[in-house]
Amino acid sequence: MQDSYDVIVVGAGVIGGAIAYTLSKRGAKVLVLEKDHLASKASSAAAGMLAAQAELDGEGPLFPLAKKSRSMFPKLALEIKEVSGIDMELVNKGMLKVALNEQQKNDFQRIVTMQQDSGEQAEWLSGEEVKEKEPTLSEDVLGGMYLEKDGQLEARQLTLGFLKSATALGALIKENVEVKSFTYKNGKVTGVATNEGTFVSDKVIVACGAWSSQLLSNTGLSLDTYPVKGECFSVITHRPLLSSTVFSEGCYLVPKKGGRLVVGATIKPNTFNQQVTLGGISTLMDKAKILMPQIVEAEWERAWSSIRPQTVDGLPYLGHHPEYAGLLIATGHYRNGILLSPITGEVIADLVEGITPSVDITPFRVERLVKQLHESGAGTCN
Ligand code: FAD
Ligand code: GLY
Repeated sequence: MQDSYDVIVVGAGVIGGAIAYTLSKRGAKVLVLEKDHLASKASSAAAGMLAAQAELDGEGPLFPLAKKSRSMFPKLALEIKEVSGIDMELVNKGMLKVALNEQQKNDFQRIVTMQQDSGEQAEWLSGEEVKEKEPTLSEDVLGGMYLEKDGQLEARQLTLGFLKSATALGALIKENVEVKSFTYKNGKVTGVATNEGTFVSDKVIVACGAWSSQLLSNTGLSLDTYPVKGECFSVITHRPLLSSTVFSEGCYLVPKKGGRLVVGATIKPNTFNQQVTLGGISTLMDKAKILMPQIVEAEWERAWSSIRPQTVDGLPYLGHHPEYAGLLIATGHYRNGILLSPITGEVIADLVEGITPSVDITPFRVERLVKQLHESGAGTCN
């Protein structure tokens, strides 16, 4: 007889990991299926910024979700360390979003005022004040927003921490297992069909990042999503050149443990090609040199790339499949999947348990952008 599970999570990135961990913590019997290896895609490529205020200006429904998620990290870091032994290297030294021209200066000053008015901690620093805080930054910096609460961490460690903690709490994770389609009965999902046979559960969560819409097309659902490639590189500076994370339009510098500095990231929509290109990395190098001229003396470490999952309205999909009961979707986290992972785990676990989530998820429901929902491919077991 086949083993059956309370929940099957498809995809072992940070989103699948957060969901598996949260559900395991709540006592569910969870199976995670990953077509490649743990944390092999976007979740290992990420710079690990928790940039709720630097990446989102303060308007729109994603901002409260991002802030709530950011606030969950200190407790989560302790929990994950205790359960799995993995240190996600959470750093709370703030983020400096710097202006390199007058237009940016005006825009960022307006955002600081708007965020202050809504009760956020945000401070405008003049060019001199920025230089005092981070002396290695260039004279071209005209000023910057200092966002004390925007931290950063090691994204791969976070992802592995979620997954290993889920395992420690009883979850089973299978690598090299690709989910090809879903099985159904009377409009309800009954499991998944894979290259390793079928697995049974009446709750299946699709957390396949940029590849989610391909898998969901099997259900007749056409999600309005697209892939966005991002390339990064890292250098070793031996002595730390920065304290805070520095964010600018088109380039960020994230100081990591051991004198590492992560420099990211390019943005190239509509490609699944994950090759690192000379064009991408040299553009980033030029921008990094403008921000911090001393970077030219740093020792080269490595370069990498992966694919972000984006939606046409920039909001993730968090919710039930519009047609098949028990099939849930968590994708489209674009540039903020690391930041949004803890709250996504909670929201999806609530939906699985039939509890109303503590945050309003109406703006993220799956139906909002669905282009078409038809019968082809749905209801099959192949
Ligand atoms: P992924 O990590 O891509 O995981 C999806 C998994 O599903 C993969 O392992 C894949 O192999 C698996 N899969 C796919 N199809 C199947 C199938 N059919 N069967 C089984 N398994 C399947 N976010 C931040 O918050 N802060 C940052 O600083 C940040 N920096 C970034 C920098 C770069 C260069 C990039 C590319 C992204 C960055 N992001 C950042 C965004 C973040 O990485 C993503 O939003 C997040 O990793 C998405 O997680 P995911 O689990 O949805 O997708
Ligand atoms: N959040 C940073 C990136 O996606 O590049």
